[in-house]
Amino acid sequence: MDGVIDMQTIPLRTAIAIGGTAVALVVALYFWFLRSYASPSHHSNHLPPVPEVPGVPVLGNLLQLKEKKPYMTFTKWAEMYGPIYSIRTGATSMVVVSSNEIAKEVLVTRFPSISTRKLSYALKVLTEDKSMVAMSDYNDYHKTVKRHILTAVLGPNAQKKFRAHRDTMMENVSNELHAFFEKNPNQEVNLRKIFQSQLFGLAMKQALGKDVESIYVKDLETTMKREEIFEVLVVDPMMGAIEVDWRDFFPYLKWVPNKSFENIIHRMYTRREAVMKALIQEHKKRIASGEKLNSYIDYLLSEAQTLTDKQFLMSLWEPIIESSDTTMVTTEWAMYELAKNPNLQDRLYEEIQSVCGSEKITEENLSQLPYLYAVFQETLRKHCPVPIMPLRYVHENTVLGGYHVPAGTEVAINIYGCNMDKKLWENPEEWNPERFLSEKESMDLYKTMAFGGGKRVCAGSLQAMVISCIGIGRLVQDFEWKLNDDAEEDVNTLGLTTQKLHPLLALINPRK
Ligand code: HEM
Ligand SMILES: *[C@@H]1O[C@H](CO)[C@@H](O)[C@H](O)[C@H]1NC(C)=O
Ligand SMILES: *[C@@H]1O[C@H](CO)[C@@H](O)[C@H](O)[C@H]1NC(C)=O
Ligand SMILES: *[C@@H]1O[C@H](CO)[C@@H](O)[C@H](O)[C@H]1NC(C)=O
Repeated sequence: MDGVIDMQTIPLRTAIAIGGTAVALVVALYFWFLRSYASPSHHSNHLPPVPEVPGVPVLGNLLQLKEKKPYMTFTKWAEMYGPIYSIRTGATSMVVVSSNEIAKEVLVTRFPSISTRKLSYALKVLTEDKSMVAMSDYNDYHKTVKRHILTAVLGPNAQKKFRAHRDTMMENVSNELHAFFEKNPNQEVNLRKIFQSQLFGLAMKQALGKDVESIYVKDLETTMKREEIFEVLVVDPMMGAIEVDWRDFFPYLKWVPNKSFENIIHRMYTRREAVMKALIQEHKKRIASGEKLNSYIDYLLSEAQTLTDKQFLMSLWEPIIESSDTTMVTTEWAMYELAKNPNLQDRLYEEIQSVCGSEKITEENLSQLPYLYAVFQETLRKHCPVPIMPLRYVHENTVLGGYHVPAGTEVAINIYGCNMDKKLWENPEEWNPERFLSEKESMDLYKTMAFGGGKRVCAGSLQAMVISCIGIGRLVQDFEWKLNDDAEEDVNTLGLTTQKLHPLLALINPRK
């Protein structure tokens, strides 16, 4: 709110110096401002506009945004222009928010004016025109499918029932690492490959009741193996979404009509649909034969008869793609940091040993492992998997940070920027779990904003937290992790989420 007061008091002071009429006028304006301030979303036109990042006329700031994922540039600009500024991307205007305080206005206080999304052409295709919880506008459809996914997959009760699957997953990861070590004692292991594959298995069990080995896909007249199914359901759409997003938001990428690009998106769409249809067919048969399992498909078939076939398909696909990436990203970054910082790894190991002794770490033990939780939180802060929240769209005039924001503006919350805010975090560049130990509210899962907030807060934060924490804990309990001596600082990222560009390659040593 500081911005508002400053902008109003400076002209007031100048006016007093000039003379009586002006004073009366400005004072009148000032009171009008104070009065309308009570209901700012309806009378906000007189508030100052959001400060603009100077750009080139016509092109706006496009030429300055050479990265595909501009969260670094956005953060640099936040240091120069403040926690809220606007940029012009060709014809449209986008407000970029890089502080927790203003982000909370977007997510909570002003949510009623900022509750829709404007999707790029290809995201529209890939999300079946917003038929996903995460990409839908805030409406009845959203409320219905969010209720379904929380009830049957992601809420606390549903997650309790999937406990055995998570335990199996951790056993399998540990077993595969031991097997790798026995075969290749002095070689670096690629944790991502192992963890991601197991996570995909867990996602399939939650969605369909069983992991998949291979399946005959009738529409494509081919039999697909598990790895190929993973490509079609997870890897390809993630890649497609990033290309698409920034192409549409930053229209300079769109000047050249690109048929081959559209073809790629449509191929992704068709293949995903074909594979999902085949899986759904198989499990409908299973259920018809009387074999019921605790899974989302079993639930949806009996409880969600109003969904169209396409909405049904998208509902099942959603937790598969959402489970398979972000949690792995967080776990991998945490292991990278722990391998790089042996002292902190020792501290974590000692905490786990002092609590669990010779027993394997379990979910019940989490509440007694504050350092482990701090490692998870600090990793979410420094390497937030979703650095820029999917864009929101202002559908009626509103106020953010004391500035007028007109309908039609897009809003980007720069989570990475919030987490690098020097006013909030001391030495934000440093990875230091300690910072989450010192404060009372450190148990707050939403402190870093990594999961968003308000009504659209991440539905999978519980699952992500449990799997990452137990994953990190178990990996450290079973092995000592080391980077190769010649490993260089490697913090480059790739993809829609901030996946590490190069997978973590680490030396592991089984603990005695
Ligand atoms: C560390 C892991 C994760 C991070 C950092 C993360 C981050 C986010 C963020 C920032 C949003 C808000 C998007 C917005 O407001 O526009 C979101 C929404 C969502 N996430 Fe996650 N997520 C994670 C894991 C998961 C998992 C494992 C699942 C499910 C299996 C999941 C399911 C969802 C869903 C369904 C929404 C949409 C909620 C709504 O729009 O009402 N997330 N996530
Ligand atoms: C994981 O472990 C279970 C039993 O503990 C086993 O049946 C399954 O085949 C394993 N899965 C993988 C992918 O290793
Ligand atoms: C068209 O899109 C494809 C795939 O994204 C890309 O490789 C190619 O460079 C694009 N061509 C043009 C002219 O933009
Ligand atoms: C850890 O969890 C197990 C059950 O999963 C429990 O038996 C054990 O007592 C717990 N340890 C501590 C120290 O809470």
